[in-house]
Amino acid sequence: AIDISKLRDQTGYVTLDIGYKNTGATKSAITFLDGEQGILKYRGYSIEELAEKSSFIEVAYLLIYGELPTADQLKGFQYELSRHTLVHEDMKKIFDGFPQRSHPMGQLSSLVCALSAFYPDSLKQNQTAEELNLSIVKTLAKMSTVVSWIYKKSLGHPYIYPKNKYDYISNFLHMTFGQRTEEVEIDPVIVSAMNKLLILHADHEQNCSTSTVRIVGSSESNIYASVSAGISALWGPLHGGANQAVIEMLEKIQEDGGDTDKWIAKAKDKNDPFRLMGFGHRVYKNFDPRAKIIKKACDEILEKLGINDEVLEIAKKLEEVALKDPYFVERKLYPNVDFYSGIIYRALGFPTDMFTVLFALGRLPGWIAQWKEMKENKEPIGRPRQIYVGSTNRDFVEIEKR
Ligand code: ACO
Repeated sequence: AIDISKLRDQTGYVTLDIGYKNTGATKSAITFLDGEQGILKYRGYSIEELAEKSSFIEVAYLLIYGELPTADQLKGFQYELSRHTLVHEDMKKIFDGFPQRSHPMGQLSSLVCALSAFYPDSLKQNQTAEELNLSIVKTLAKMSTVVSWIYKKSLGHPYIYPKNKYDYISNFLHMTFGQRTEEVEIDPVIVSAMNKLLILHADHEQNCSTSTVRIVGSSESNIYASVSAGISALWGPLHGGANQAVIEMLEKIQEDGGDTDKWIAKAKDKNDPFRLMGFGHRVYKNFDPRAKIIKKACDEILEKLGINDEVLEIAKKLEEVALKDPYFVERKLYPNVDFYSGIIYRALGFPTDMFTVLFALGRLPGWIAQWKEMKENKEPIGRPRQIYVGSTNRDFVEIEKR
C-alpha cells in the first residue's frame, strides 16, 4: 500500500474519504476483522473460542498485553485490579450533582474524565512503563465502580463499596445489585452471561469510539480524558447507543401489535427516517460473528433464568423477515451485535438506559489496548485534512450595513 502521509507534503494531494470508509488510520496488531467472511479475532484468537472458554479479565489482559496470561499472571492482574476499585470519596459529590434521571452515558463520560482530577499521576508526560501500567489498572478497576454507582444513583440507593474477595465481574454484580444490609447472591449464570457479553464487546479495531480514543490520545491527552471521549462517541445510536435503541424499537413494535412487516416497510421507505436498529454494519457485509454467538447465548440465558420475553420473539421474527427481503439482502444488512445484547441485559435486570454503559465497560480493554499501542508506536498527532468548499474572497461588511 502507498503511504499517503509520506506523499502529501511532496505533492499537495489530499485524499477525500468522508466517514473513512476506505481509509486506514493506523497499523494495529490487536484485532483482526474480515467483514466479508464474518471473522473476528483478538490477537489471533477467534472470538468464538474466547467467548466460550475465557473470562473478560483474561481477554482484557490479552488485548492490553498481547498474550493470554498464565495462571499466576491472571491472579496477579486480578489482585492489582481489586486493589484499585475504590474511588475517591469526593467523587461522590460529583455523582450527587447529577439530576437523578440524567442519562448514564453523560454521567459516565464526565465521571471518567473527572478521575483525572483525583488521580493526577495520569497527567504526567512520559510516564515510565510502571506508571503507565498503574494508570491502565486504575482505569479498568475504577470504571466498574463508577458504572455500578451510576446505577445505584438512578435508583436513589446507597453506593456499595467493592469487596476485594470477588473477581472483577462478581465485584461489579455485588456493587450493582448488592445492598448494604446483605450480601448479594452471585449467580454463576449471570456471571457467565456478563463475561460473554463483555468479551464480545471488548474490541473491534478502528470503530468510531476507538478511533476517537486514539485521536484524542495522539495529542498526548491522559488516559481518562481519552477514554471519556471514547464513551461520548459510543453514546450515539448509530454506534453503542444502538443496544438501547433496539429494545426501545422492539417495545414500540410490541405495543403497536407486533406487526413486523409494517416496521420493515417503514425501514425501507426512503421518506421515513426510521432505520431498523441493530441491523447493518460498516464492515460486516455478510454477518456479524458476534451476533451469532449472542443470539445463541440469548436463548440459553433466558431459558436458564426461566424468562419468557415477548420481545425476543419479535426480534426473531424481524430478523427472519428482513433476511429474506431484497432491500436488506441487496444492501447486505444483517443483525449486528447489538440486536440481541439488550434482550440479555434486560433479562439480567438492567434498565434500558444502562445498556450502552455496559457496552462501554466491555469496550474499555480495547480502548486501553489501542491507546497503549498508539503510544508505543509513537504515532503522530491525528489531524485529518479537508477539501475547502466555502466562499473564496469576501470583503468585510460593517454590521450596520448587513
Ligand atoms: N435499516 C434500514 N436501512 C438501512 C439500515 C437499517 N438499519 N442500515 C443501513 N441501511 C441502508 C441505508 O439507508 C443505505 O441505503 P441506500 O443505499 O439506499 O441509501 C444503505 O443501507 C447503506 O447504509 P449506510 O448508512 O451508507 O451504511 P454505513 O456503513 O454508513 O452505516 C450503520 C452503518 C451506521 C451501522 C447503519 O447500518 C445503521 O444506521 N444501522 C442501524 C444502527 C445500528 O444498529 N448501529 C449499531 C452498529 S454496531 C455497533 O456500533 C456496535
